[in-house]
Amino acid sequence: MALRPARDLDARPGVLEVDLTARVEDVEIAAGKKTPTWTYNGGLPGPLLRARVGDRVIVHLRNELPAPTTVHWHGVRLPAAMDGAPGHSQPETPPGGDFTYDFVVPDAGLYWYHPHVDSAVQEGNGLYGPLLVEDPDEPAGLGDQLVLVLSDVSLRDDGSLEDPQAGGNLGTLFGREGDLLLVNGRVNPVIGARAGLRQRWRIVNAAKSRYYQLLITDHRFTRIGGDGGLLEHPVEEDRILLTPGERADVLVTPRGAPGATLSVRWVPYDRGYGATFGRPEVEAFRLRLADEPLAEDDPLPEVARRIEALDTAAARRVDLQLTREEGPGDLVMGINGVPSWEAEPLVAAVGETAVWTVENTMEFDHPFHLHGFFFQVLGADGQPVRPLAWKDTVNVPVDGAARFAVRYDNRPGMWMFHCHILDHADAGMMGMLHVVP
Ligand code: C2O
Ligand code: CU
Repeated sequence: MALRPARDLDARPGVLEVDLTARVEDVEIAAGKKTPTWTYNGGLPGPLLRARVGDRVIVHLRNELPAPTTVHWHGVRLPAAMDGAPGHSQPETPPGGDFTYDFVVPDAGLYWYHPHVDSAVQEGNGLYGPLLVEDPDEPAGLGDQLVLVLSDVSLRDDGSLEDPQAGGNLGTLFGREGDLLLVNGRVNPVIGARAGLRQRWRIVNAAKSRYYQLLITDHRFTRIGGDGGLLEHPVEEDRILLTPGERADVLVTPRGAPGATLSVRWVPYDRGYGATFGRPEVEAFRLRLADEPLAEDDPLPEVARRIEALDTAAARRVDLQLTREEGPGDLVMGINGVPSWEAEPLVAAVGETAVWTVENTMEFDHPFHLHGFFFQVLGADGQPVRPLAWKDTVNVPVDGAARFAVRYDNRPGMWMFHCHILDHADAGMMGMLHVVP
């Protein structure tokens, strides 16, 4: 259940250096069956990379897959040449090739890595893993920390992975979801807990299409963080919603009789017009309470972070529409009526602030992701949503829009933005932002 940490090859403090080999390996997803899976270092998910704010991270990618690949470091404000976005800032790594990623992790939070070539297929085949960047100055005593990588998969009877292009255009339109929920690569795993003792869950939704909405009957969650580290202040929530690509940092105190089992349920989320794609409520994982009486936990330390609202008075406007193109043949999606392969990049300058409005003209929600920068989500009135938070992925609701303020505070370069339903991104719902000095 616990993730395998990556082996640090570098004894120097402040440097995490790891080998990451992308290769096909048999993984036991369903009991007794071997599933040839695309893995990093042979496991599903890829190894847990664990660093501290300001550390240098060096990753030696070796590509032993039958296809070219890259590694994108989702959410990390790194130089564009390390971002894994092929064709713009970094070449693809061919089969048999290698590439060394070398960057500093400037912000605390849970990030993740996945390919950015043929993403729906490669991530759907198993290529994803977590990168946890910790801040030693964070309050202690938040509880036992667990990193939970959520995903889903469909297996054929012989244990092999379902065709990543299954369902043709309709599959692309809905976004292909797997039937089996995976938590750290396992179906229905059991996590040990003690009644009354808080746990801290660092969760990433690494599924290529599925929205995760999790709840435990008669329990509440305290959400303390999101994509880019801690929130301005915690919020209480009955359920945790994560669109593909998003992260959550939540505290939960399990309650129940000694030895009892609590079910952490995935409940359908309406992605538009009642569309839950016929998915039933299902158990994602369980908590097994120790055979000990209710423990008395220490009070929750104060968890707060000073975040300034971005000043948008002089901000430039960026208006985007998520669109679906009509025509024969393969389903094509786009931004402002143009698929990614025909789009001209947007241009902006380092240091500028912009307000983006991303409008949804399609029949389902879309999780919108911008590379290279964090943003602050704005409400319909243009005011920042509280608590303030740094995000890199935000849901664009059906018949609505997402608005956010962003300051181009990272280095110049070509940066991607796209829907994180990867079937949609591959169908053209993607664009480029050229940030110039
Ligand atoms: Cu996780 Cu371009 O995305
Ligand atoms: Cu989409």
